[in-house]
Amino acid sequence: MRTQVGIVGAGPAGLLLSHILHLNGIESVIVESRSREEIEKTIRAGVLEQSTVDLMTEIGAGERMKREGFVHGGFELRFGGRGHRIDLQDLTNGRKITVYPQHEVLKDLIALRLRTGGQVHFEAKATGIDGLSSDQPVIRFTTKDGETRELSCDFVAGCDGGYGTSRAAIPEHLVRRDYFRVYPFGWFGILAKAPPSSEELIYAHHERGFALISTRSPDVQRMYFQCDPADNIDNWSDDRIWNELQTRVGGDGFELKTGAIFQKGIIPLRSFVCEPMQHGRLFLAGDAAHSVPPTGAKGLNLAAADVHVLARALTSYYSSRSTELLDAYSPTALRRVWRAQHFSWWMTSMLHRFHEGTEFDLKRQLAELELVASSRAAATTLAENYVGLPLA
Ligand code: PHB
Repeated sequence: MRTQVGIVGAGPAGLLLSHILHLNGIESVIVESRSREEIEKTIRAGVLEQSTVDLMTEIGAGERMKREGFVHGGFELRFGGRGHRIDLQDLTNGRKITVYPQHEVLKDLIALRLRTGGQVHFEAKATGIDGLSSDQPVIRFTTKDGETRELSCDFVAGCDGGYGTSRAAIPEHLVRRDYFRVYPFGWFGILAKAPPSSEELIYAHHERGFALISTRSPDVQRMYFQCDPADNIDNWSDDRIWNELQTRVGGDGFELKTGAIFQKGIIPLRSFVCEPMQHGRLFLAGDAAHSVPPTGAKGLNLAAADVHVLARALTSYYSSRSTELLDAYSPTALRRVWRAQHFSWWMTSMLHRFHEGTEFDLKRQLAELELVASSRAAATTLAENYVGLPLA
């Protein structure tokens, strides 16, 4: 089998890349280890930056998102028992965010890709990538029937997430260096059948730990609270969960609207970057190259930003045979990645309770939150990063 760009992974990065390349007349094939059903039901975060929304709209994948997504012009920071609105729109010349979950983005992208003749091999596991320093690299994979196949291509895009084969194809130490931080806490996430408690997202600081109130639809709400990453969901009855959430977001007479909890899970928090994001003819995009704690809501948006840079570089190569933009891919993408790493770490460190944290740290966090709530300059820094910087 042969194509121009072989893509490992049908997550947001792989699907977006494949479709943008298609619109630019470049052929690609996607090899994905999971089934379509599994991809479409995995629950992930749900905030899209303005530029991600614009990109989805531009490539014809924005119709349902426009109809069903919730556009928010601000969010609330709660600390010391009071709420403070961050007016994103006012602070960023009208930029906004859209709450539309990642698995809905994936459903739209998969449907679009298949409708436009895209080749996506589901349940096909990439087992290795060879010939990265030649001009005909090869992706080896096993189909769902156990057959061994090879896909030879001009370039490989590694979009297979944090645990995929692509990153491992870049020799560690010799070429690749990984930078990471693991946080001593996780997020306990729930989905509940309940009306929204607030018109906008709430990010809450509390001495018992962070909490986040988000939404999915008028009758399904998404909420999280900081927990021990080694905790077990069976330790948490619905009552205990609602009490914990209410305690952390309460004050000012604010009451959470509760309801039946139908999904519970614990996610670990980590910050990770692999450098460089390119090796020979292999280009990493999205979680294959980096991950961020969800506090800044940047994961999917960073994947979209990588793809924007990579698609432009590949398109330039096929129209002029110039490798200039491809050679600049890793440094260009990494600039935004490190900006988002700093922002996500900053939001995380400002809002969470750390094990080793002292009373001094708690007071320092409150002073920092007070600064963001009262200084337009500080709020603008937060707002600009939250809505997302313009694409490079
Ligand atoms: C979500 O709705 O899942 C969500 C929202 C904001 C975040 C993280 C997750 O920062």
